[in-house]
Amino acid sequence: MTCIVITGANRGIGLEHARLWLETGAEVHAACRTPDRADALKALDPGDGQLTVHAYDAAAPEAGKALAAAVGKPVDVLLANAGVMGPRDGQSLGNTDPGAWVDTLKINALGPLLLAEAFADLLAASKAGKLVLQSSRMGSISDNTSGGYYIYRASKAALNATGRSLAIDLKPHGIAVAILHPGWVRTDMGGSNGLISARESAETEKALIEALTLENTGEFRHQSGEFLAW
Ligand SMILES: NC(=O)c1ccc[n+]([C@@H]2O[C@H](COP(=O)([O-])OP(=O)(O)OC[C@H]3O[C@@H](n4cnc5c(N)ncnc54)[C@H](OP(=O)(O)O)[C@@H]3O)[C@@H](O)[C@H]2O)c1
Repeated sequence: MTCIVITGANRGIGLEHARLWLETGAEVHAACRTPDRADALKALDPGDGQLTVHAYDAAAPEAGKALAAAVGKPVDVLLANAGVMGPRDGQSLGNTDPGAWVDTLKINALGPLLLAEAFADLLAASKAGKLVLQSSRMGSISDNTSGGYYIYRASKAALNATGRSLAIDLKPHGIAVAILHPGWVRTDMGGSNGLISARESAETEKALIEALTLENTGEFRHQSGEFLAW
């Protein structure tokens, strides 16, 4: 049985991944900031031990280690999905909120790195451990033709740089790394104009995760499968 850990699993794309992986028989460790309020996630529980809900705050430096200790067994897939956009009104030139810049980098870039460090041994203990970073094409420098979004773009570009180093450093340990753009998805973050549903995003990402190997580690891919430029 595949063992997957998903962060930010209480709503949006993360919740759909939890639903999908449960449907396909995986053991799901779903992490969220406030389990007490994660009603939609807990409603997925088949009640047979297939789903475990954990507390996890990506902004807390020790959270990755605590989550890895709570999971405490070989992990086949670690999906670092939790993320924030940052302030809607503080991302245009002249309006940068320094505190929000730091907070967003902590959640979107530092959090996944600490998570990867904490789970490295558990992923290495799997036959084919896979680390998946939920990035965004807004983190692509060469794809940026519209400017703005300084905080979010910087955080996802930092995540992408982190992902490339992780792919290189974890390869000798048998761990493959994917850096994914989930599409423009209809969630709280993506808004109602998004092009695809969270279900479609999760299904297409799952196919990419299943196709992830040490041969194609370190790639930056759109959920459509298209390669994205750094
Ligand atoms: N939607 C899109 O179009 C789109 C496009 C590109 C990339 N992405 C990326 O995809 C991921 C999921 O996005 P989404 O659309 O599902 O967003 P969402 O609906 O806003 O959900 C974000 C998730 O991240 C969690 N989260 C936020 N801050 C956290 C923290 N400090 N610690 C732990 N969990 C935290 C949220 O938990 P709470 O409920 O506790 O806030 C929630 O579960 C993000 O990394 C995002 O950047 C989304």
